[in-house]
Amino acid sequence: MLNIVIFGPPGSGKGTQSENLIKKYKLEHISTGDLLRHEIQTNTQLGVLAKQHMDKGELVPDEVIIGMIDRFIDKNVEKVKGVIFDGFPRTVAQAKALKDLLNDYKTDVSVMLNLEVPDDELLVRLIERGKTSGRSDDNEETIKKRIEVYNSQTRPVIDFYQKDGKLANIKGVGAIDAIFADICAAVDAVK
Ligand code: AP5
Repeated sequence: MLNIVIFGPPGSGKGTQSENLIKKYKLEHISTGDLLRHEIQTNTQLGVLAKQHMDKGELVPDEVIIGMIDRFIDKNVEKVKGVIFDGFPRTVAQAKALKDLLNDYKTDVSVMLNLEVPDDELLVRLIERGKTSGRSDDNEETIKKRIEVYNSQTRPVIDFYQKDGKLANIKGVGAIDAIFADICAAVDAVK
């Protein structure tokens, strides 16, 4: 299988580049952020809980997220060529859980694409997107909190994948197509 973790701070281009990856490599895609927003829209118990955290720019608790991924893997993994994990894992506990869950199916993460974008560029992108996105977390105060949470709780995941020999750093600033070319080079190197 070709299993890709697309990683980076809020606004680094994970969603944008996931769309390109889906088209090119025909992989299944899971975005934990999109799944959580769907739960909120349909007003489920999980959605009510998630909203309390997301509106403050905090992470949703690991056990909730790992449960979602567990169900996704059980349902999909044997039917697909590979999976793009977008916005997951976001803590070292999530990264370890993903390794264990995939190991049950004798597979693993193939590559972790780490999109590197400076904080000031993230802020500009997300404030701009907030004008039209309708996302309740795309306002300046919450964006700053999301970036802070990324730096304190999510950044350590990079070390996890470096030690596992899976890390590919990608410069995430510049033309979307040029960034995607670097992404493809990193993916093709592990295919
Ligand atoms: P999530 O939905 O994952 O949001 P995020 O990580 O904050 O990322 P974004 O969707 O804002 O940005 P992106 O990196 O996908 O960039 P995009 O391509 O959209 O998570 C939301 C919340 O859900 C979290 O805060 C947390 O509460 C919760 N959550 C989700 N997963 C969780 C987990 N695993 N554990 C715990 N909690 C979890 O691009 C951004 C903008 O920039 C767009 O307007 C785009 O057009 C533009 N852009 C993209 N590339 C470029 C470029 N190269 N140049 C200029 N502009 C660009």
